[in-house]
Amino acid sequence: MKSKRTPPLDLEPIMLLLLMLWRRLHKLSGPGDKLQTREFRRVVECVKILLAQHDGKQSLIGIDYFTNREYLGAYLLYQWVIHYQEGMSLIGELPSTPKRALDVCSGPAPFAFAALRHGVREVFAADRNQAAMELGAEVCGRFGLPLSVRRWNCVKEAMPIEGKFDLITLGYALNELFPKLEKGWQEKQDRFVDYLLQKLTPQGYLILVESSFAEDNNRILSLRDRLVEGGVPIQAPCIWRGECPAIKTANSPCYAQRDMEKPHLIKEIQRSAGINLSSLKMTYLIVRSPKAAQLVLPDEKLYRVVSPPVESFQGKRFYLCGVDGKKTLGSHFEEQPAEAKAFNYLKRGELISIDNALEQQGSIEIVEETTLKVKAACGKPVDEIADLNIL
Ligand SMILES: C[S@@+](CC[C@H](N)C(=O)[O-])C[C@H]1O[C@@H](n2cnc3c(N)ncnc32)[C@H](O)[C@@H]1O
Repeated sequence: MKSKRTPPLDLEPIMLLLLMLWRRLHKLSGPGDKLQTREFRRVVECVKILLAQHDGKQSLIGIDYFTNREYLGAYLLYQWVIHYQEGMSLIGELPSTPKRALDVCSGPAPFAFAALRHGVREVFAADRNQAAMELGAEVCGRFGLPLSVRRWNCVKEAMPIEGKFDLITLGYALNELFPKLEKGWQEKQDRFVDYLLQKLTPQGYLILVESSFAEDNNRILSLRDRLVEGGVPIQAPCIWRGECPAIKTANSPCYAQRDMEKPHLIKEIQRSAGINLSSLKMTYLIVRSPKAAQLVLPDEKLYRVVSPPVESFQGKRFYLCGVDGKKTLGSHFEEQPAEAKAFNYLKRGELISIDNALEQQGSIEIVEETTLKVKAACGKPVDEIADLNIL
């Protein structure tokens, strides 16, 4: 497995900084480490409204909601903290550190900040809302990380930044840019994604992130199928090269899960807003430049764990999606065989190899001789045989 350094999250100092910026945005004085009761209630109300657009109500679609500083401030104290953690995990999956990155529809730039924390030297944020980007740039600046911001209405104007990028991130924006109620949304979205792919260097990556809600999930899985069909190489999470099995099965979303650090304020906002979220849950896709070759994986039975442990009449089982499609994995042992102990600790999102197991009709059983290894932990790159080949 590759050992790539994961930078610390540093959420404690970050939360203090976000609170300080929230107070400055609202021109309010008060304690530096917590919100007062009335302030807290305002934030919770705004978080609920902002989240409603991801549960199918689409209440803020078409509105430049960050011009309202109540929304911008609340976003900074809640969604930002979650998206930053997602960005840290996903950028950790890249095999090398990009040199030049662009965060499209950056808002207050949690993904751009994550890129900078990962050591990307030159990072741009682009959004239609200047105030949101400037707030993001302030967070970065306080950590000594310079962020360049450019105002850009990305569905109406050409990109205002010259040159190509080793990394482009687009987080939580596709449903705003291309609402499903709009005629021709899919073709327009495809053209936009192609446009971004053309802006990558040959060794570059495009990271798309959306929520785990069914509609957003389906949007990304369908996009993934379209890209695969066009021969565009997928870096993660899919190692299966055929049509997505999750799309073919009704009510079977396929999304990612990562551990989440929850600072006190995040716990309090969740409790008060009735948000039941104990881990990071998102749909994502890391796409290689169309000029890059496909991933060259070792000749092993590799699988991505695509579910948490599911209790069945056969005991604990996991859903897997791998080089030979969708499977389930289980074990009849109370104590796992010496080489398969990793079964006890498997996490959704890990890439594993399975050797010498018993397989019947898509169901894999651990036997005495089975070897089960974690080949890439969550937030770590997949080991390739060869370096990235440029076509
Ligand atoms: C939900 S926020 C996501 C912000 C950030 N990427 C994140 O993950 O936290 C969506 C962002 O898309 C921006 N946006 C929406 N439509 C846009 C457009 N046509 N051009 C540029 N930015 C747009 C909004 O201003 C907002 O900052």
